[in-house]
Amino acid sequence: MRGIVLAGGTGSRLYPMTASVTKQLLPIYDKPMIYYPIATLMLAGIRDILLITTPKDVERYVDLLGNGARWGMNIQYAMQVRPDGIAQAFLIGDNFLGEQPSALILGDNLFFGSGLSQRLANAATLTLGAHIFACRVDDPERYGVVELDAEQRPLSIIEKPRHPASNWAVTGLYFYDGAASRLARELRPSPRGELEISDLNSVYLAQGTLTVERLGRGYAWLDTGTPETLMAASQFVCALETRQGIKIACLEEIALAQGFITADNFARIAAAAPVSAYGRYLKALLADLEIDARPTPLRVAAG
Ligand code: DAU
Repeated sequence: MRGIVLAGGTGSRLYPMTASVTKQLLPIYDKPMIYYPIATLMLAGIRDILLITTPKDVERYVDLLGNGARWGMNIQYAMQVRPDGIAQAFLIGDNFLGEQPSALILGDNLFFGSGLSQRLANAATLTLGAHIFACRVDDPERYGVVELDAEQRPLSIIEKPRHPASNWAVTGLYFYDGAASRLARELRPSPRGELEISDLNSVYLAQGTLTVERLGRGYAWLDTGTPETLMAASQFVCALETRQGIKIACLEEIALAQGFITADNFARIAAAAPVSAYGRYLKALLADLEIDARPTPLRVAAG
């Protein structure tokens, strides 16, 4: 499965923070926002990623992420000249995807929760239809909203409804079969002039191949569209990381755990990491690895 991270848009609701820095490179506590959606795709087992951004910002992402080899990934770049809608990602990513299944994630969506990796890995086995995630929110009118029947089957998906049929917002993480680009080509712009991802999902719904998975109480889905939600996301990550002494969305740690890089690769990266909280975390992980790699008395005795 291939992945697309959509990181364009104008970030106008965060102006002037976004006047010279693109929104998805703003920090969420201790790392750039874009680390979180990339980590989500990595946890789904995805190594081939197309990052779509604006012509103005692409170089900044290349500076930060390069070709992804550091994390055993292949990151390519494409540009969206105007923010003409989320589903446009499948027109821009057409060649990159070919007929392969894909996962699309919005560059400003942050997911956290116990068992999430397993759920993501399951979703990444999709070969037919589409699979999306829904979270309960207080203000559904700001999102794509899915209405579910008693068996959790989707009945409708409406983008920013004035009178929402439920409190279940569709999150910015979508899994599709190999038909997504072809189906996206048939979409027409909505009244607000965008190729809507909710319309693509509605096509799958009409075909009877859309499944919806609810992320319940144990999950955090944070969006970072306003100064308040941006700050809240930072506070959330800070509180968890400080309390538990672990990091969320540490790309090197995930790459190692997923087998994208070897322990030797990790050791080289950690040894060269700058002195920052993030760098110290990598060095501490390296020290743990070295302890684990030491021969146990049993092994010594057996040897
Ligand atoms: O966050 C989940 C929601 O994301 C879904 O519930 C909605 O169905 C979906 O339409 C989207 O709603 P938003 O109102 O959050 O979309 P927004 O236009 O703010 O775009 C979300 C991100 O995608 C934002 O960081 C900018 C980026 N984007 C957006 C568009 C329309 C692009 O890179 N290019 C685009 O053309």
